[in-house]
Amino acid sequence: MNIKNLEKYLNKPIIYTNGNAQMWTDPYISKHLLDAHLNQSVDAASRNFRDIDQTVDWLSNMIKNPNASILDLGCGPGLYTQRFAKKGYQVTGVDFSETSIQYAKEQASKNNLNIIYNQSNYLSYEFNEKYDLIYMIYCDFAVLSFAERKILVNNIFNTLKPNGLFVFDAYNESFLKTKTFDKDFEYDESGFWTDKPYLCLSQSYHYKEHKVILDQHIVLTDDSEPKVYRFYNQYMNLKDVSQYFLPFGFSNIKVHENVIEDENINFYSMRKI
Ligand SMILES: C[S@@+](CC[C@H](N)C(=O)[O-])C[C@H]1O[C@@H](n2cnc3c(N)ncnc32)[C@H](O)[C@@H]1O
Repeated sequence: MNIKNLEKYLNKPIIYTNGNAQMWTDPYISKHLLDAHLNQSVDAASRNFRDIDQTVDWLSNMIKNPNASILDLGCGPGLYTQRFAKKGYQVTGVDFSETSIQYAKEQASKNNLNIIYNQSNYLSYEFNEKYDLIYMIYCDFAVLSFAERKILVNNIFNTLKPNGLFVFDAYNESFLKTKTFDKDFEYDESGFWTDKPYLCLSQSYHYKEHKVILDQHIVLTDDSEPKVYRFYNQYMNLKDVSQYFLPFGFSNIKVHENVIEDENINFYSMRKI
């Protein structure tokens, strides 16, 4: 690697500028991500099963119709979809990770669950059916850029049935108390990012005026150019969410603070009335 090629990545990026690599769909990294989704000792790519059970029970209480149709955007390996299907709902999961969708399909077939899985990018997904509930869980909405959100929220609104519910979760302001902005590095012979020896330089940035945090990881190996992974995440409150969603036509926008035992996370629900 030519060390000079690193220079352009060392300043704070303009907000929502992408890196040059994608983590979720990388065939190597996605195998490690599947382990992270399923690992019960850390909340990494998915939350622990207790939180997932609590969330599914809470959402089930919000939808009164026992035959409701449900769409999970960014369903990962199907930890939520499976639980909803076991309760008798009609469930569809969309995710662009081949590894996750393959695992989710295997689990559904093993457990005799009739779940529709679609390996697609939800930003370009053709929403053909109508749903009673659409949700995005584990801060998946707040990671999107403002341009991406606009496309998706319009599609979600049009895809909900009358009185349909949209739910997502996001960090709140107290998350900032737990966040550090130190520079960090990790060396490994073979690990999460690649099976070759690598050095990973990590740094977080705060875009205060937009309430957005960026976690950036630059992965350096002997034989390739730097790979830059960027993860933006917006923290928000009910006022931010209401101001954003009301113009799309949503109403009855509510914040829910105790769905799971994490004081940094709020859930938001809203209806298409
Ligand atoms: C943090 S994980 C959460 C997975 C799942 N919601 C859960 O909590 O178990 C984010 C998921 O969203 C998926 N994802 C991210 N961007 C996506 C996109 N544009 N289209 C489809 N899936 C996406 C990733 O592949 C990953 O499975």
